[in-house]
Amino acid sequence: MGQEQSSPVDESVPPQTLEDRSVESVAKYIRDGHAKKIVVMVGAGVSTSAGIPDFRSPDTGLYSNLARLNLPYPQAVFDISFFRVNPLPFYTLAHELYPGKYRPTISHSFIRLLSDKSLLLKLFTQNIDCLDREAGVPEDKIVEAHGSFALQRCIECKTPFPEDLMKQAVSKRDVPHCLTPQCNGLVKPDIVFFGEQLPENFHRNRSLPCTADMCIVMGTSLTVQPFASLPSFCSDEVPRVLINLERVGGLGTRADDVLVLGDCDAGVRKLAAGLGCEKELEAPVGGDQPRAKRQD
Ligand code: APR
Repeated sequence: MGQEQSSPVDESVPPQTLEDRSVESVAKYIRDGHAKKIVVMVGAGVSTSAGIPDFRSPDTGLYSNLARLNLPYPQAVFDISFFRVNPLPFYTLAHELYPGKYRPTISHSFIRLLSDKSLLLKLFTQNIDCLDREAGVPEDKIVEAHGSFALQRCIECKTPFPEDLMKQAVSKRDVPHCLTPQCNGLVKPDIVFFGEQLPENFHRNRSLPCTADMCIVMGTSLTVQPFASLPSFCSDEVPRVLINLERVGGLGTRADDVLVLGDCDAGVRKLAAGLGCEKELEAPVGGDQPRAKRQD
């Protein structure tokens, strides 16, 4: 777990593990059976082709399009102290983002494919859209580091709130309140707001990357800690692949870092082609399968 330098590795420095720093060599490494415990770390960029904006892309990102919510600053929409005072901006946004309207992308299907081939050690996602579950990634393979819309509860007494009443409230842009009479606290989905603790499942799994034999980072600016540190936990000799519009975090500074700069869906299609499983990748995602239910 070498310290992440800031400058990219010099082109003249040969890889320690891969034949070269190319998608083809990554595919060959996987085909040759050297990568069976792949950790995948994703952010909003893997869902943009589903129609869900990311957060920080200039112009199209969510944070540059929230002026209509009259927020003191963009991230306030996910700030727990702001939510307590004014939950309406969040519920206005929830109406637009709530699962059910969007379908998984090719990038989500690629992650499911890795799982189908028993190559996926764990998917760490920052996304709250549940599209990885809808693509068929098994729930026990997913760490929703920033929570998701899957469950909701009162922020005061923590009493779970029924999904059907939540769906009704979100569709009407209402703010749901706790059903416990003497409480009547605000209800919030189990999404991690700024100022809140990450889920136990994240802390239980955060050291897993040091046991991985490959790391794939996709569609994230690696801006928010502690998630942003995950790729640095991989051992130095482990190939790390970044599939992203821009170089981010410490990716590209190690001898076996491979940068696939561009659209995520295009990047995973290239990797799938190298693995000879393009057709499996394009197979339709399980129809209108209901979103996987989490057992509380
Ligand atoms: N293909 C490849 N990369 C993409 C694509 C795409 N189609 N679309 C966007 N990207 C890249 C952007 O260039 C950017 O580097 O994905 C990254 C998205 O970064 P953010 O918008 O910051 O999203 P994310 O990294 O998921 O944000 C992390 O910040 O506000 C919090 O809790 C929120 O989970 C979120 C966290």
